[in-house]
Amino acid sequence: MAEIVIRNTNERITGDDNVRDFLNSQNVLYEKWDASKLPIELQTNFQLNDEQKSEILSVYDEEIRDLAARRGYQIWDVITLSDSTPNLEDLLNKFEEVHTHTEDEIRAIVGGKGIFVIKGSDDLGYFNVELEAGDVISVPENTNHFFTLMDNRKIIAVRLFIEKNGWVAYPVQDPSFQKA
Ligand SMILES: [Fe+2]
Repeated sequence: MAEIVIRNTNERITGDDNVRDFLNSQNVLYEKWDASKLPIELQTNFQLNDEQKSEILSVYDEEIRDLAARRGYQIWDVITLSDSTPNLEDLLNKFEEVHTHTEDEIRAIVGGKGIFVIKGSDDLGYFNVELEAGDVISVPENTNHFFTLMDNRKIIAVRLFIEKNGWVAYPVQDPSFQKA
């Protein structure tokens, strides 16, 4: 179950309904998949080969096609990050820059954990969305955000795209963002 931390106040929001209501109020889609559908050996394998990635996509084929039909996604894949990912530090340094995209950034977490940091309404500022297996989130287009790992430094996620080049990152210099 996802949890929210408002960065300016350290307020934490927990509970599915509270999290969903908060995210909806910020125009962030939040849905759930059944994390237990995925065999545990795939949920905990952070060095997936192509065959195993295809297996994950087939386990969640119905959920993926439902999202695609509702929201226009054309292509999808599986990404995994962990300490066994080559150049993980370089990748995280690149990820942890505030940016936007021209299409929404949708991720279904199917193993491990991760955080999206998203710019909310002006009165609210940035908030963290802590995600675990079963959480599905979509950061709206043209919204300041970035992604990073949590302390366990492991994640497996399904990504969906309307078109692959819609996901180019445009860096944003935002003086209102404070990293710590
Ligand atoms: Fe992004």
